[in-house]
Amino acid sequence: MLLEGKRGIVFGVANKRSIAWAIARAAAAEGARMAFNFQGEKLEEKVKELAETIPDKTALVAPCDVTRDEELDRFFGEAARALGGPLDFLVHCIAFANREELSGAFVDVSRAGFLLAQEVSAFSLPSLCKRAAPLMEKGGSVVALTYLGSERVVPNYNVMGVAKASLEASIRYLPLFPDEPGAVFHEALLLESPNALRDVSPRDAALADVVRVIDVKAVRPGRSLELVMDGEAQQALCYLK
Ligand SMILES: NC(=O)c1ccc[n+]([C@@H]2O[C@H](COP(=O)([O-])OP(=O)(O)OC[C@H]3O[C@@H](n4cnc5c(N)ncnc54)[C@H](O)[C@@H]3O)[C@@H](O)[C@H]2O)c1
Repeated sequence: MLLEGKRGIVFGVANKRSIAWAIARAAAAEGARMAFNFQGEKLEEKVKELAETIPDKTALVAPCDVTRDEELDRFFGEAARALGGPLDFLVHCIAFANREELSGAFVDVSRAGFLLAQEVSAFSLPSLCKRAAPLMEKGGSVVALTYLGSERVVPNYNVMGVAKASLEASIRYLPLFPDEPGAVFHEALLLESPNALRDVSPRDAALADVVRVIDVKAVRPGRSLELVMDGEAQQALCYLK
């Protein structure tokens, strides 16, 4: 199994249609142990129900809103204890923008709406990595999900397109993480997945079937951005090592 004995943290499971859940199921099938966050009490039961369906019955499911530093600190402390060993991978599947910012003219974006989309969808990545890196004693991998709307104008993607551009730029800077013991990022990956994913049936939700990777780019310390492969996201699991 690809991830036998590996430990990971997966951010962004909300329900069975969440891409984070498709990734988590695929990683669990490959032998990974994981910790999951949920955002807000409303999602607690749903995420716990899902986590109970994977083989590792000890998986941590704990609250963490990425806009709250105290929740982030508490979550990473709990995750470190629950996983019981060095962290190997972090999966970032988080994005948010107010509905009213996802239509109309981009110039009408509100200051608060712009900043919120940036904070949740982009700033969350370095914020999570800062806390994950010290736990990656043997080095680790980070995966974040982006969308074509970061590069091209996609009607109504608006403020989220700008947030995704920011996320992508952020991930390119991650390998410059300060040289502290354990803070070695082997790869930082960027996945683009088609919008059609929203409509996949739960039956098809196995990662290999639904998350078609359009473009996987890897950044390694000291190297420029490079295209490493095209193909199914199943292959991308190889990078969660
Ligand atoms: N669905 C698609 O077609 C598609 C396409 C390309 C990229 N993506 C990206 O994939 C990722 C996952 O999206 P999804 O489609 O699975 O949707 P989703 O709604 O299932 O996942 C988004 C997650 O972000 C979490 N979140 C939002 N605000 C948060 C906060 N303040 N703190 C902590 N968590 C918060 C939500 O709880 C949810 O779990 C996102 O980054 C999204 O932009 C999705």
